[in-house]
Amino acid sequence: MKVLVIGKGGREHALAWKLSLSPRAKAVFCAPGNPGTASIGTNVPIASDDIKGLVEFAKAENIGLTVVGPEDSLALGVVDAFKKEGLRIFGPSKMAARLESSKAFAKAVMHDANVPTADFKICDHPDQAKTWIATRRYPLVVKADGLAAGKGVIVCSTQEEALKAVERIMVKEEFGRAAGRQVVLEKRMAGQELSLLSIVSGRTIIPLEPCQDHKAIFDNDLGPNTGGMGAYCPAPLGTKEILDQIDTEVLVPTVHAMKRRRMPFHGILYAGIMVTSQGPRVLEFNCRMGDPETQPLMMRLKTDLLDLLDAAVDNRLDEFEGKIDWDPRPAVCVILAAKGYPGTIEKNSPITGLHEASKLKDVQVFHAGTRFDSRNIVTDGGRVLGVTALGDDMVAARAKAYEAVNLIKFNGMQYRTDIGLKALSPLPFPTKDSSIDEDVDLKM
Ligand code: GLY
Repeated sequence: MKVLVIGKGGREHALAWKLSLSPRAKAVFCAPGNPGTASIGTNVPIASDDIKGLVEFAKAENIGLTVVGPEDSLALGVVDAFKKEGLRIFGPSKMAARLESSKAFAKAVMHDANVPTADFKICDHPDQAKTWIATRRYPLVVKADGLAAGKGVIVCSTQEEALKAVERIMVKEEFGRAAGRQVVLEKRMAGQELSLLSIVSGRTIIPLEPCQDHKAIFDNDLGPNTGGMGAYCPAPLGTKEILDQIDTEVLVPTVHAMKRRRMPFHGILYAGIMVTSQGPRVLEFNCRMGDPETQPLMMRLKTDLLDLLDAAVDNRLDEFEGKIDWDPRPAVCVILAAKGYPGTIEKNSPITGLHEASKLKDVQVFHAGTRFDSRNIVTDGGRVLGVTALGDDMVAARAKAYEAVNLIKFNGMQYRTDIGLKALSPLPFPTKDSSIDEDVDLKM
């Protein structure tokens, strides 16, 4: 079978790499891909938002399965467009993908389905938002309703910061007019974040192994948020008790609620969870694989990914229930980011040491913001590489990942040195945010 992966990040390199290992994959294409995907398949110069171009390519090449990486393609209706042409594709419809593309919609679904999440208010006018903020006495999170390339969620410590966030999203429209038409204001929760990605098809929900992402740019979760500076899998935070609770209180009711709304969910349901002292609470839903969570997940997945996604597309995912095979060893992914990230980044810096790093056993260097420049590979984006390693335990996986990191160099390279450390410490209650009491509603 010929396979197409849509996107150009580290997630897509990891997906294409895993798909290329399937004996059933005759060819793997990536649109538009990056130098990493070019090393294991064929890149095609079609952007992830060129839905017409992607459909035409899939028809002309007789692609047997398309896997969608980024959320923007889903929000534009790539799945609907492929299905209309009888093409097989893994991912949710445009309507179902609103679980990610509209935070207000996601909150409405959670509310209807009684899914545990933070108290919230949806506002479609800045004055309404400011009045609501002025009557709260607890820290807030202000979220742009629409897609904002991972930047539209502003975690605030004071009322003043929350008011500024509303100004940035709704008045200055920093994340675009459409994204800032509404805001979701919610109570900031204390705890540790867990990413639980599940494959959903019909009534079947198969959670993958729990991961932990690291959103802040600097060690110890300091500094501004990024798309993710590293991830590890499995995350011990996802105990059996917590995972069972997420399954019964979050995944099952959400999938049922989507079905009741006549927008059945197929694809990856990524629950961004805050594990609080009161139990798991949903921070957000995404409708695609996480980046960088996909990188350690694909390192550990032993089941043939093509077989698995094929079964999901054909509504026979139940064949895999309880049968997904994982490498028992943990995996750690360290993101190497460009100078200036997550602000204005420097591009075109030559990268050295890639070959040496990828020769290490149990290491994969997944490309993201890179490009070919004649015979060199140079930086071309904020998150440049995802250096991912397996180890017999978390200490060994970390050591291996950082051994590979130390071989790679480019001007202004920045990375966190603490990826995976949380897996080595006991559960963090109380947390640095323990001043936020979950039980007491401080509304005036
Ligand atoms: N790791 C965060 C995301 O994929 O949105």
